[in-house]
Amino acid sequence: MQKTILSVFNNIECPKSPPIWLMRQAGRYLPEYKKVRKQAGSFLDLCYSPELACEVTLQPIRKYAFDASILFADILLIPDALGQKVWFVEGEGPRLEPVSSPDTLSLDNLSHQMQPVYETVSLLKQRLPEETTLIGFAGSPWTVATYMIAGRGTPDQGPAHALKQNDIIAFQGLLDVIVEATIDYLASQVEHGAEVLQLFDSWAGSLIGEDFDRFCIAPNKSIIDGLRARGITTPIIGFPRGAKDRYIDFAIETGVQAISIDQDIRLSSVIADLPDTVVSQGNLDPLCLIDGGQNMFSQIDDIIEVTKGRRHIFNLGHGIKQYTPPHHISELVDYIRNKG
Ligand code: CP3
Repeated sequence: MQKTILSVFNNIECPKSPPIWLMRQAGRYLPEYKKVRKQAGSFLDLCYSPELACEVTLQPIRKYAFDASILFADILLIPDALGQKVWFVEGEGPRLEPVSSPDTLSLDNLSHQMQPVYETVSLLKQRLPEETTLIGFAGSPWTVATYMIAGRGTPDQGPAHALKQNDIIAFQGLLDVIVEATIDYLASQVEHGAEVLQLFDSWAGSLIGEDFDRFCIAPNKSIIDGLRARGITTPIIGFPRGAKDRYIDFAIETGVQAISIDQDIRLSSVIADLPDTVVSQGNLDPLCLIDGGQNMFSQIDDIIEVTKGRRHIFNLGHGIKQYTPPHHISELVDYIRNKG
């Protein structure tokens, strides 16, 4: 009974200590990542180089023996593959040639352009330890659209909100293309060996009221329904970051098998209403990994206590921060495994 992330979710039993992986477990906090990143040239070159992308995916597995490994790629590969110009500015983040409708986008090149990513998945499948679960992922349509419309990351997703208000046909058309591309992209990741999928809706928190239903829940559900219609039964983790009191609606209405929870909400308030059939994940504040020590241990204790008796995957409420000392992560893993 070795294989876990809750034996790819079918397991109804709760293990002694929760399985662990961390969002952004590959990245700039690791000196060995920075070395490979330099060798690759640009960030996108790294994403499209199977050997190098495989290497940076494996680095945190070798170092910390996490229970799951997440494919090294980015949510902005989808706009790139749809024909939108995407690049990353050193020290600043992503830049895109902004779009305001689906008219300039095309699905024709998607499968060809994503071949290197699928090759990375195949390499990982061969090279990962048998007990390590391979997670594939994509961005959710609203979150990806916020970058496509603004041409960069924005604090309030203002440009996407404006297009939604001013030209709903163009805005919805954009979401529809992303949904279609994402179904294909995730189905191919599964075909090449992904065992679990995660959908990142990092900016779900700026959708309120009915907008949350229309532009967060509905497109995530369309992707899941599309995968199920193709006969793909792979468990799916949804991450509607900042969903606040809508986490439960999201979990039930989209049909996800697991829900990843950010650090800004009281975990007990989500879990109280979450059906037992839905696995929980996350909630640890990534900042406490910079602190380490007692601050980190007491926040870990709280999560373990609150999730006792339910299937929970230990993880952060958002990605690991760049200034996290790598040894704090070893301490986190040891602490959780020794508590069990
Ligand atoms: O280890 C992993 O988690 C797997 C790889 C992964 C990356 N990005 C690598 C990455 C995953 C799952 C993502 C998801 C992603 N990408 C999201 C959703 C999750 C979230 O953080 O909210 C978003 C919004 C993006 C878009 C993106 N990519 C931004 C805004 C940035 C710049 C911010 C930053 O930290 O530099 C990136 C770049 C990026 N993606 C890096 C990594 C390791 C850093 C790039 C570098 O090496 O310079």
